[in-house]
Amino acid sequence: MRLLRSLPLSRLKNKVAILRLDFNTEDNWRMDASLPTVRYLARHCAAVMIVSHKGRPKGFEEKLSLRRIARVLAGKLEQKVNFMPDFDFRAITAQVRTAPKGSIFMLENLRFLPGESKNDPRLAKQLASLGDLYINDAFAVSHRANASVVAITKYLPSYAGFEVEQEVNHLGQAIRHPKKPLVIILGGAKIDDKLRVYDNLKSKASVFLIGGALTDDIIRTLARPKIVFPTDFRTINTDIRDIGPKTAKEYCKIIRTAKTILWNGPVGDINHKRFAQGTIALARCVAKNRNSIVGGGETVMFLKKLKLDNKIGFISTGGGAMLDFIAGMKLPGLEALK
Ligand code: 3PG
Repeated sequence: MRLLRSLPLSRLKNKVAILRLDFNTEDNWRMDASLPTVRYLARHCAAVMIVSHKGRPKGFEEKLSLRRIARVLAGKLEQKVNFMPDFDFRAITAQVRTAPKGSIFMLENLRFLPGESKNDPRLAKQLASLGDLYINDAFAVSHRANASVVAITKYLPSYAGFEVEQEVNHLGQAIRHPKKPLVIILGGAKIDDKLRVYDNLKSKASVFLIGGALTDDIIRTLARPKIVFPTDFRTINTDIRDIGPKTAKEYCKIIRTAKTILWNGPVGDINHKRFAQGTIALARCVAKNRNSIVGGGETVMFLKKLKLDNKIGFISTGGGAMLDFIAGMKLPGLEALK
C-alpha cells in the first residue's frame, strides 16, 4: 500500500490534497482518529479538501448534512473549515486554488449524489479535479467500492493516511502473526460475518466467543470446533437479548488467558440497561488485558460511555470494514492504494 508517511514533503508542497474521511458515527471518535492526518496535510499542503459520507440518504437529507460536522472539526483544529454546501466543482476549484496556504475545505455529504455509492467514474473524475493527490484516511468505509474511495484513485496519485496505516498494521499483525492464545469475541447480528471470520481464523484462534442476536437455530448452524456459545441468557419471553451472568464469567476466564483479543460487536442489546450487562462484564474484562483490538461502532461508543476505551490496546474505527478485514477479504478501498 502506498503510504502518506513515505511521501517526501516536497510532493505535498503547493498541492491540494483530497482527503477521504468517515464521519458516519453518532459522536466524533472517527474524526478524532484522523486528526493527525488532517493537521499534517494542512501544515504541508496548499489546501485540504475533505470528503466524506454520513448515513444512507436517498438524495438530500438535512439531518445528514455535514455542515455541523465542519463546525465540530473547526473547533477541534482551532482553524476555519470552509463548508461547501453545493457540488459546483468548477466554482469550488477556483476557490480552493486561490485560498490562503493550509486552508481546509469540506464538501457536503457525498452520498447525496447517486454516483458515490455506484463508484461512478464521472463523479470520481469531478472529485479528482478538485485536487492534486488523494489520501484515504477512512478505513471504516474502505470495504465499500464508492466513487470517493475506489474510482477516484484512477485519476490521482493515491495514498493511505496515518489512521488507515495503523489499522492495517494492527489488524494485519493480529490476523497474520497473533500472539497466542488468540481469542475472538463476535457479537452483533449477522451470522454470515461470523462464519467468514471463523473460516479465516479457525487455524490461528484458540477460541471464538459468540454473543449477540442468537437463536437455537443459529446456535445449531454455527456449531463448529473452537466456537463457544453462551450457556445462559437474559431473555424476554423466548427472545434471547443478552448473555447470562454464568456465561460472562466463563468468557472472562478465557479472556484473561488471551495474548491477543479481537472483539467486534456487543454481546447483548446494549440499548437496554438490563441487556447491556453481558457486554459491560466483557468490556471490564477486556479492559484488564492490554492485548486487545476492539471495533464496531456500537461497541466502541459503549466502551467510551463506560470510560474504558483508553484501556484498549487498539480501537479500530471499522465496523463492517474490520469484520471484512479479519475475515481475510480484500477491501476495495485498500486494494486501490496498492
Ligand atoms: C460504517 O459506518 O460502517 C461505514 O461508514 C460504512 O457505512 P455503510 O455501511 O452505510 O456503507
